[in-house]
Amino acid sequence: MQTQTAQQAAEAAMQPTGAIEIDSARLTDELTTLAGFTSIEPSPLGTAVTRVVFSPDDLRARAWLKSLALAEGLAIREDAVGNTFFRLPGSDPDLPAIATGSHIDAIPHAGMYDGTVGVLGGLEAIRAIKRSGVHPRRSIELVLLTSEEPTRFGIGCLGSRLISGTLDPSRADALHGAQRGSEDETLAQVRAAAGFTGPLSSVRLAPGHYHAWVELHIEQGPLLEREGIPLGIVTHIAAPAGYRFTIEGFGGHAGALLMPDRRDALCAAAELILSIERHALATGVIDTVATVGTCDVYPGAVNSVPSRVTLQLDIRDTEPARREGVMQAVRRDIDAIRARRDVRVSEALVNADEPAACSPHIVAVIDEVCRGFGIAPKHMVSRAYHDSLFMAQVAPIAMVFIPCRGGVSHRPDEYAKPADIALGARVLAASLGRLATE
Ligand code: GLV
Ligand code: MN
Ligand code: MN
Repeated sequence: MQTQTAQQAAEAAMQPTGAIEIDSARLTDELTTLAGFTSIEPSPLGTAVTRVVFSPDDLRARAWLKSLALAEGLAIREDAVGNTFFRLPGSDPDLPAIATGSHIDAIPHAGMYDGTVGVLGGLEAIRAIKRSGVHPRRSIELVLLTSEEPTRFGIGCLGSRLISGTLDPSRADALHGAQRGSEDETLAQVRAAAGFTGPLSSVRLAPGHYHAWVELHIEQGPLLEREGIPLGIVTHIAAPAGYRFTIEGFGGHAGALLMPDRRDALCAAAELILSIERHALATGVIDTVATVGTCDVYPGAVNSVPSRVTLQLDIRDTEPARREGVMQAVRRDIDAIRARRDVRVSEALVNADEPAACSPHIVAVIDEVCRGFGIAPKHMVSRAYHDSLFMAQVAPIAMVFIPCRGGVSHRPDEYAKPADIALGARVLAASLGRLATE
């Protein structure tokens, strides 16, 4: 029998990809199992999922995922904020690895595909690479990132922000609960209770830590389905910003406080919300979007005039300057609302992030993989944000999008077809496999 030379072994390892096959039935089953880790009862109308970071359901889901990874023989590392790294070692384990990943936390009343397709699809991609018999040169890592959703602490992408150094570790630990009734808890307390200890400064990874990062995700928009294209490759991710407004007026008895004497904080907040909508529309550009998604009214009784309201605003654009232009116009309206209604309005910046550009090289690799599978992918902008926005600071990145029904996301009726999910995972696997040979 001939022995393989080092050269032949290297060439064998560098074979692009053997037969990369995805076990679609298993992937669908695992997505369904993961959707069962929810604090909302599964409903006959759709799979409503609520999995807030570090809730008992999130922790149970993490434990289950670790059991799957252990069964695959992947090495596991958890950092101080709960980012979890599952590694398939390459034949040259000292080289910067190739990584993929996403999140498993879900906003209240979410669907079952946002984030989870990237995590379980990433795991299935790694299994497919193993099954194909190719031994990758670079290690391949699946990363579960903590709190992509801003539900619990008011700021999204906590794990990837800390990895990239975008969020100061002491500011992060001092973040307070953003949901009503959770204002007294801090990230420091909550993560310690969940078993994640150590300084948050240790979460940071150096630029260049990964050779490449590719995230698989549902599109969360209608374009792929509308155009009948089974797969998208993201070239840019739009820039999100978050603000918190507190409006303080004067409260009192709903019967006794006379209308001419009122300084109703909720009426002032209503004007502010409409001003935001008006100015976002006024850019005339489809890429400007602004949403006030929470409104917390104090004291919150039907027979009490609201004295204080807190609003959270999410505003995004592909151009940060245009986003800021909307904010400036809103601030002018705030001055007028203040004067007319005799209320106090304060604004706190939660985050204002830059857009990210994907790596032309990784985009080209994914494009080539798609064409090898007979698919002409759509190159597109992501209007949703993703952990990839921050991973872009420690690695060249790209994202693979699959269609979702009606473009619906962040709702229980979010749906992606098993065949599209399997195709996305297959393209992901083949792309990771190729990148791992570089
Ligand atoms: C991510 O969940 C986003 O809101 O874009
Ligand atoms: Mn989401
Ligand atoms: Mn997501």
